[in-house]
Amino acid sequence: MKALILSGGKGTRLRPLTHTGAKQLVPVANKPILWYGIEGIVAAGITDIGIIISPETGEEVKSQTGDGSQFGAQITYILQEKPAGLAHAVKVAQSFLGSSPFIMYLGDNLIQSDLHLFVDIFKQQALDALILLRQVENPSAFGVAEVDPQGRVLRLIEKPKNPPSNLALVGIYLFSPAIHAAIACIHPSPRGELEITDAIQTLIDQGKQVEALQLEGWWLDTGKKDDLLEANRIILDTCLTPEVLGEVDPQSQISGRVQIGIGSKLINCRVRGPVIIGKNCYLEHCFIGPYSSIADGVTLVDADLDHSVILQGAKVIGVHQRIVDSVIGQRANLTVAPNRPKALRFMIGDDCQIELV
Ligand code: TTP
Repeated sequence: MKALILSGGKGTRLRPLTHTGAKQLVPVANKPILWYGIEGIVAAGITDIGIIISPETGEEVKSQTGDGSQFGAQITYILQEKPAGLAHAVKVAQSFLGSSPFIMYLGDNLIQSDLHLFVDIFKQQALDALILLRQVENPSAFGVAEVDPQGRVLRLIEKPKNPPSNLALVGIYLFSPAIHAAIACIHPSPRGELEITDAIQTLIDQGKQVEALQLEGWWLDTGKKDDLLEANRIILDTCLTPEVLGEVDPQSQISGRVQIGIGSKLINCRVRGPVIIGKNCYLEHCFIGPYSSIADGVTLVDADLDHSVILQGAKVIGVHQRIVDSVIGQRANLTVAPNRPKALRFMIGDDCQIELV
């Protein structure tokens, strides 16, 4: 069995972060989202992994993720010239996939469940497609499935105005090689993409074995800022190992689960976990509240934040109002003069310079 991870796309919903970088490399608890997917796939025993990349962000994905040896896998990068749809990505990967069954994983998705279970069911039942479904409150924003009481999929509809159920398609699918012939039969949708839902619908119409499983645990599609913050919250809650490798002065107070990387220095700070602080950061006179992730090389002076993600090399200085629910991009510089307004809520892109004077 092989794996195909989709790490191309436009990433419009996560702009401005995605103006300068790949959406799938945005960190959750200081680790690129994409790497969680790779680790989950390897944990399910699949090590031959193809990653779809785009011309704009492919080199960055390649250089950060490497040949797969750090994950115990072998990674083949496959260039998709245009983000022409999920089924188009499968088409582009056809020579890599050959006649192998495969798991297709959208590189900006995170799930709690172990993939092993799905791989086992797919193999045991010799299915042509196994899709994962999750109940959601706003099905109109997703691909939606209509299923019979036995779990057999009757119909799939992409972003329906009148959804037949509240069961959204999770961005993880298992396919037999029959999917390639189904993709060959479909045409671009009104939004101009080759839709994987149309290809799966073709399998259903051809009478192939298409089953669905409902996910029990959490599922996060990190395409938007609030999803990213939620993913950060859940990963810090469930996966953070406390460890202090950096320097913490005697005036600082650390409580709860906190990880501080090597080369980081904290002076007169209060940190209330779960919090992760990367390597080579400088924090002075700060309060860092729960569910915050601070990437490598960040400088925070006279800053007060919680439930926020600060990316690599950013600087926040003199912000006495609490920063909440915020994502601050790489190398962004936020400097505030004294006596400024009370509430600030940001999504600041990479390289932005913000000064409130
Ligand atoms: P989406 O999030 O649906 O699309 P997108 O990346 O273009 O983002 P946005 O809606 O914000 O503009 O894509 C899901 C995943 O699949 C994501 O990791 C990108 C990837 N993808 C490809 O690799 N190729 C494609 O042609 C498309 C549409 C998506």
